[in-house]
Amino acid sequence: MTAFYFGGDYNPEQWSPEVWKEDVALMRQAGVNLVTVGVFAWSSLEPEPGRYEFGWLDQVMDLLHDGGIQVDLATPTASPPPWFSLRHPDALPVDAGGIRLTHGSRDTYCACAPAYREAAVGIARVLAERYSKHPALAMWHVHNEYGTTCYCDHAAAAFRRWLQQRYGDLGRLNAAWTTAFWSQGYSSWEEIQPPRATQYLVNPTQALDFRRFLSDELLGAYRDQKAILRSFTPDVPITTNFVFGAWVPVNHARWAAEVDLVAIDHYPGSAGPGAEEQTALGADLARSWAGGRPWLLMEQAAGTLNDGHRLHTKEPGRMARHSLSHLGRGSRGAMFFQWRASRGGAELFHSAMVPHAGADSRRFRELTEFGALLPRLAEFAGSAVEADVAILWDAEAWWAMQSAHLPSSDLDYLASVQAAHRQFWAAGIGVDLVAPDADLSAYRLVVVPSLYLISDQAAASIARYVEGGGHLLVTYFSGIVNQDAQVRLGGYPGAFSEVLGIRVEEFHPVAEVQLASGGQGRLWSEHVHLAGADAVDRYSGGVLDGSPAITRNEYGEGVAWYVSTQLEDEAYEALVGQAIRGAGLERPELPAGVEMIRRRAGETTWTVLINHSEGEVAVPIAGFELLSGTEVVSPLMLAAGGQAVVRA
Ligand code: GLA
Repeated sequence: MTAFYFGGDYNPEQWSPEVWKEDVALMRQAGVNLVTVGVFAWSSLEPEPGRYEFGWLDQVMDLLHDGGIQVDLATPTASPPPWFSLRHPDALPVDAGGIRLTHGSRDTYCACAPAYREAAVGIARVLAERYSKHPALAMWHVHNEYGTTCYCDHAAAAFRRWLQQRYGDLGRLNAAWTTAFWSQGYSSWEEIQPPRATQYLVNPTQALDFRRFLSDELLGAYRDQKAILRSFTPDVPITTNFVFGAWVPVNHARWAAEVDLVAIDHYPGSAGPGAEEQTALGADLARSWAGGRPWLLMEQAAGTLNDGHRLHTKEPGRMARHSLSHLGRGSRGAMFFQWRASRGGAELFHSAMVPHAGADSRRFRELTEFGALLPRLAEFAGSAVEADVAILWDAEAWWAMQSAHLPSSDLDYLASVQAAHRQFWAAGIGVDLVAPDADLSAYRLVVVPSLYLISDQAAASIARYVEGGGHLLVTYFSGIVNQDAQVRLGGYPGAFSEVLGIRVEEFHPVAEVQLASGGQGRLWSEHVHLAGADAVDRYSGGVLDGSPAITRNEYGEGVAWYVSTQLEDEAYEALVGQAIRGAGLERPELPAGVEMIRRRAGETTWTVLINHSEGEVAVPIAGFELLSGTEVVSPLMLAAGGQAVVRA
């Protein structure tokens, strides 16, 4: 495997052959070594049913190979051509309101429709037949960003099959879905529908199961293609690019086992410092999903950040800082969407490695400079990222918490995870994001942010971790429901009450709350009773005046902390600081605004430092700095926006 890949989505079907030649020359100039080709090229490859045009792709593959550039060849199944949907209208997606969508965009298919599944496997087979022996082929890129939801009759039938497997008999389903509420009892499987538009709130367990089902169904679609590609090229790695977002019905932690290389697309949803924190979280998630195997940042924006309203041009150096954050956190490269900015089509103003202005541009120069640095970093590509802390992450808990039935619409799982992750990001302490039922014994501290849903087994395994000497920090609104999204009775936080030594009687959603220590909380508070734990901080003022807000409990050989509100950053930092010290972890000396990542292979360590602040900083570190190729002595002076990778 190449140490670090550098490149992006290359869509030559949008351009003439003269441009292809310039593309390859510019790719060489920039140090590009891998491009993803053909992601949306189905109608260019098969303009009419069964009539294939491979001439252009043959030429592009040859040109790239001659230029020394490897190809991550995509199957184009995320965008079937118009002829396909006209032939198979039943394979078009239907939204929750029953409206059948049409072609004219992308992802206009239902992954449950037999015609679509067959066509997807068909085009994958044709591509494999033609290119399996091509010397440029380095990797297969199946589909693009699996995540399309459909509520059609094919989806309904597949959902029922999935439910039959999960529950066996209807009585169990009725019990799990609490269908006695609002007279929803099912007397035959055929009565069950996807959670389509209905008169008022949908059944939360039905909605949760539908997402679980979609994740498995889409995985089936991926597996179909993987099997075909594998049969032609047993040694070529196969992947698909994971997209991250609240709308995505894909459990990436589970899918990871099915890809040879975990690949993610990452587009922060903020232009401020949130972009750096989100970048780090995205990278830590990908590495954790990969579980020690390689992973790759398959897409990021070359030149802009989109906050949902505006495209913010990335300031000089910011693209490199984000890319280094990904590399530092384990990515085997920095890839972009896309190579050359489109002149038309839906994403014509999406930034690209070669912008509309052309190669004579700051953006292209910065990319070229960055590409030139990668070979200097190659030595740490295979080393491990150090992480003594785990934050629990669970897609199903996230989905369950998107329910419209919660006591406050401010409850936001991702925001709670981000708030926890930010503390460790700022402190320069490595974090993995692990599944609730994972083996936690390698971690000194485990943080559980707002894990609303948790199974009995996972809760028991976390309790054993603490009993055996582990340190645990649980935050508000955790442990509330079981895997059927049914409340654990007898007091919150149900699954964690014993290990935390507390019992929560009531929720008090609020705008703001004061703590006796002077700290502040937001959004949420709880009426906590001590049942063995000590109160570390208490609410001050309001209905909960004097009752515990933060608790600490010794359990077996370990310690379990609970915080019943969303702490403001300062108070959160103080609490995490206590938990870190309690767990015997060292907090590195790090100036504010500097990101730090530690890597290790045997006795050799590498420290990645990225100065996101606007001033020069001094970092106490010495060793060989890879980017400049020089020995550095302590303190290392890092200019605003500066980066360093120090081997010791
Ligand atoms: C995704 C897709 C790309 C492109 C980008 C735009 O990551 O995979 O095709 O649409 O988003 O941000």
